[in-house]
Amino acid sequence: MLQLKNWVEREAGGCLPGLKSVYLERTASTNDEALEYCRSGGKGPFLVVAGEQSAGRGRLERKWESPPGKGLYFSLLLHPKLPSAQAPLIPLAVGLALKQGLAGWALPDLVLKWPNDLWAGKRKMAGILCELVGPGPRINAVVVGIGLNLTQRPEDFSSELRLMATSLWQVLNIDVSASALLHKIVSAIFAELAKLEELGPVVLARSWEQRSGMLGLQVKVREGNHETSGTTLGLTDGGQLRVRGADEKIIDVLSGDVFLI
Ligand code: BTN
Repeated sequence: MLQLKNWVEREAGGCLPGLKSVYLERTASTNDEALEYCRSGGKGPFLVVAGEQSAGRGRLERKWESPPGKGLYFSLLLHPKLPSAQAPLIPLAVGLALKQGLAGWALPDLVLKWPNDLWAGKRKMAGILCELVGPGPRINAVVVGIGLNLTQRPEDFSSELRLMATSLWQVLNIDVSASALLHKIVSAIFAELAKLEELGPVVLARSWEQRSGMLGLQVKVREGNHETSGTTLGLTDGGQLRVRGADEKIIDVLSGDVFLI
């Protein structure tokens, strides 16, 4: 991935003035790198990109498969000017940016599956892991990590993932420039978060409803041991997913797992 390394080291600053960036051939997790950088006094915006991760992490302690050169694995350390109560909106804004970054390629059936996945044709293509640094009434710093499957063939995924995961190559059948894609996604993340800061959560929630592709879908929601099936109605202004259950009861999902059915 020489081209990606070159872009990170020489051109990433073009996404936002003042953006610092580093490319690591191999690391445990780019989120851990960015968190460590922040905890040792480093300030964002800071971009960490890896060619490979040995311990890539997802939401709910899941593993993110990160084989060398097959995906985009990166994290951004940012300091959005937002109250902590708006933290659940960050992965939603980042999801919109991810979808926007892919807009130049004719990808059918792209859905932002609440709260942090990008699905293509009912399979997961990318995931977002946002981690806040430190408590407080306002967000001090957040690490936004994204894993995007680029060139995996089905046999490149573990047997647990093979039927659930996909890659850009599997959907498009062409090789896409990783650096061009990263440039678009990172620039779009800055733009979406600036919009959230400026226009607030209500505008973000309505924009997500319009652009996510997730409205009116049949879903199963699992919160702890409890499961409900229903239809997605939209987002609350706090970023919860609103679902109408089969019994017509409306539920707002705060932290469960949502499955497309
Ligand atoms: C999820 O699907 O639950 C989120 C997956 C996020 C994976 C990315 S890969 C880059 C960054 N580093 C990590 O360890 N995780 C994120």
